[in-house]
Amino acid sequence: MAEITLTINDKEVKGEDGDTILNVCQKNDIDVPTLCHFDGIPDMGSCRICIVEIEGSGRPRISTSCTTPATDGMIIQTDTEKLRGMRRNVLEFLLSEGNHHCMYCAASGDCELQDLAYRFGIDYIKMPVTPSEESTHVDSSQRYLVADPNRCILCYRCVRVCNDMAGNQVLGISNRGSKAQIISDMGENRGESGCVSCGTCVQVCPTGAILDRRSAYMGRKTEVDTTKSTCLFCSVGCGNEIISRDNYLIRIEGDWDAEPNKGLLCVLGRFSPLYDECRARANKPMIRKDDQLQKATWNEALNAVAEKLKFTDKDKIGGLVSTHATTETLKLFAKYSDDMGAKNVGCIEGPISDPPEKGFDLSDLNDADLYVVVGEDLSEGLHQVVGFLIKRNLIERDKRLVIVNDEETGLIEFADKHLKISELDKAIELCKDAENPIVVYNDEAINQVDKMREELADNAKFFWMPPGINSRGALAAGLDGEFDPDKASCVYVMACEAGDISEELLSKLKKADFVAVQTSYMEPWDEVADVILPTTIWAEREGTVINMEGQELKVNKAVDPPKEVKAEADILNALAEKIG
Ligand code: FES
Repeated sequence: MAEITLTINDKEVKGEDGDTILNVCQKNDIDVPTLCHFDGIPDMGSCRICIVEIEGSGRPRISTSCTTPATDGMIIQTDTEKLRGMRRNVLEFLLSEGNHHCMYCAASGDCELQDLAYRFGIDYIKMPVTPSEESTHVDSSQRYLVADPNRCILCYRCVRVCNDMAGNQVLGISNRGSKAQIISDMGENRGESGCVSCGTCVQVCPTGAILDRRSAYMGRKTEVDTTKSTCLFCSVGCGNEIISRDNYLIRIEGDWDAEPNKGLLCVLGRFSPLYDECRARANKPMIRKDDQLQKATWNEALNAVAEKLKFTDKDKIGGLVSTHATTETLKLFAKYSDDMGAKNVGCIEGPISDPPEKGFDLSDLNDADLYVVVGEDLSEGLHQVVGFLIKRNLIERDKRLVIVNDEETGLIEFADKHLKISELDKAIELCKDAENPIVVYNDEAINQVDKMREELADNAKFFWMPPGINSRGALAAGLDGEFDPDKASCVYVMACEAGDISEELLSKLKKADFVAVQTSYMEPWDEVADVILPTTIWAEREGTVINMEGQELKVNKAVDPPKEVKAEADILNALAEKIG
């Protein structure tokens, strides 16, 4: 990029060809107030707070700095009396058009409109308050959010992140001028629309117009603790920020600086973990007596497990682990299983295939011209963020999506073609015709993808969607085998927060002589466990995981566990000591 020189506020500053005036100001630490601008999404110049004066022949021209390209030789003023007056006027109009009575608003203290009003000395609203009729309907139909158009300033950040960042294309604008309004789909309530609850809109809303139901009124930014960590709910490994107050979990936000998600999260990463509180927490050791789980001390519980493991034939010992665990803990589990000679050990998700590609870079999705998704449904369950990264690329006309799946998936409405698995050859031909095809697949499609790999040699990239959260960590620990419940009479389960266990596995575990479960939640393990060893949840864990790309990512503890709950590794070490 060629360097350009501008004069801003009588000082010479440098920028790059392609920068907007706002970009140049930000690069040179020149403060320009903004409201609708948000880093990472295209600007549309809707709020007009960022106006600047551009000198030219005749009178200076007033322009929005976020949408005006910077050019070499420009002379600009960013903070004149005239600009301050115009910004004040804009703010007064915005404040008069809605319900901005801050003392009743959950966003008060964290509101960008309120901050600007203070900054520009607005302590009362001169104009009559005239909210439009269209903006009176508060939409609380969605499980995790409340949308209050009375507090909306039509900055369109939510619309832009929904479409350009998350690619979900649910939010839009209806009407024009004073009747303009944010709508979901064709005007449906949020809860009945195609909204996938990724929650990106909540995170970018500058006012209280979109609120997170759970964390509203629970603490302002200055009152809460923020811990950067990694989401432990699928193998994308999204960077997140865990918001807590006084050791209580409040909210999860996407980390704008983190790869590979750059702020995006899906419902599983942003909302579901906080609603896990409905599951009863395992918060004390328990031993089954008279067919009832009864409270025990750690010593009693560990002794009970150690005695069983010590005196069971090693061929009859089974080990089952959850990939919610960190790589360090999985390696420890594998080491102790080896030490005991236990071979019947595997992951809750089943055996893990070990594909030839040891890693990849999700940012390569931006350069692909064809996406072939085999077997995986990227619209629900795990890996939704990969779906977002693909969908947002489809806005570019020369990019295509092909779904190869015998079932309907939520991505079909975005696809150019939906092929059956038996039509795999057609997908291979499409890849041969494309310049940069990427095949996204899961373990169920491994055989089909092997065929594609043979035919396409180096002409396509292959992105494996692992079945578990830290499947690559489990592979690194050597835990890729299959656990056979029929061959185990004494089973040790390291479940972490895993709860989605098949009825078949549970009924087989019920038949085992002894089952010890190291778990964060009672369900469903209270049905089968002889001993419960309470352990941490995702926000109480520390260590690393290996994501689908093969990147080692840090997991940080945001809150302390309840008093009698121990970290996974501490339980394994204590048990190892008892067994000797
Ligand atoms: Fe530039 Fe809103 S920030 S117009």
